[in-house]
Amino acid sequence: MEVFLFLGNTKTKVCDSESEIYFNPTNSSTLLIVRHDLENRLNDLNGSQWLYWTNSIYETSFPPDVTFPLRKQHGAMKPPELMAEIISFFTKTGETVLDPFAGVGSTLLGAELVGRHALGIELNPAWIHIYNTIATVFSINDGVLSEDKDNGGRAIQSRIYWGDCLEIMKEIPDESIAAIITDPPYGCNHGRIGFKKETNFNMESTDSRDLGNSRDYQEYLLKMKLAGQEFYRLLKPDRYLVLLIGDRFDRGEYLPLGTMVAQALQEIGFRWKGLRIWWNKATQRPLKPYAIKNCFISNITHQNIVILRKEMKKNPKKG
Ligand SMILES: C[S@@+](CC[C@H](N)C(=O)[O-])C[C@H]1O[C@@H](n2cnc3c(N)ncnc32)[C@H](O)[C@@H]1O
Repeated sequence: MEVFLFLGNTKTKVCDSESEIYFNPTNSSTLLIVRHDLENRLNDLNGSQWLYWTNSIYETSFPPDVTFPLRKQHGAMKPPELMAEIISFFTKTGETVLDPFAGVGSTLLGAELVGRHALGIELNPAWIHIYNTIATVFSINDGVLSEDKDNGGRAIQSRIYWGDCLEIMKEIPDESIAAIITDPPYGCNHGRIGFKKETNFNMESTDSRDLGNSRDYQEYLLKMKLAGQEFYRLLKPDRYLVLLIGDRFDRGEYLPLGTMVAQALQEIGFRWKGLRIWWNKATQRPLKPYAIKNCFISNITHQNIVILRKEMKKNPKKG
């Protein structure tokens, strides 16, 4: 098919059989023209879907799903549908995703929704128990999680391994993972200085291996770097590490934790490719009246999706 644009007496060819045409997802009055002979090296999306996903603002409206009553016991779980969208961008069908801070397994459920394999690592056995219950009770039916096993649903097969991810990752072979997509603890002192009280998170643990129990941000970033070295080794060349990280407000100051972690990981060789600001409208909590009429304090309602790449072409930071 050929497409021509007529301006007065001038006829210009804008598209030929080598190209696909889409409506621009953010402005339906403009067309997008994408060559379809370009090989998609990363995912199974078409050009229009790819473009849509590059917007740095990411608003979703995922209501709680059927597994929510079980997953909500973990105060920091993410919608499996969100994780499915992220996984769909950074992998092709059938590839393997790792979540080293798996919690109750939202990344694994997201991977199952879109036909990828996933493996998780989690320190707290209580969260693994919840995931295992979900994997027993629910199945994937027509791309959604469903309780109806008798209706031809596909069993959930991805597994979470119990232990410290800094140790367990050592057992995974080099360059065997297509994408690492994870939601690590957001800095330190979750329990001690009222983070739980402030945000309703239920993530207190006494295990010193929990990154959220780091003594201070310096120790937290150091441990993230140790984890990052393993992430780098495990990832296939040119593939992505995607981190969901909330910023913090601590001792009177805004802490751009997403940026701090991205910069720490740049130091070990990752290239920082982008940031998406994610906001789930459907589960927005009421704003809290911090210091009204006294001083400005943000209600942090977004999370950062930090996108880093193990880029092989040129890596000035590696020996
Ligand atoms: C923000 S939560 C992840 C929640 C997850 N995205 C979900 O939807 O359930 C971070 C998780 O990392 C786990 N964790 C912290 N340190 C760890 C470590 N060293 N190894 C493995 N898991 C760890 C915590 O127990 C917690 O469940």
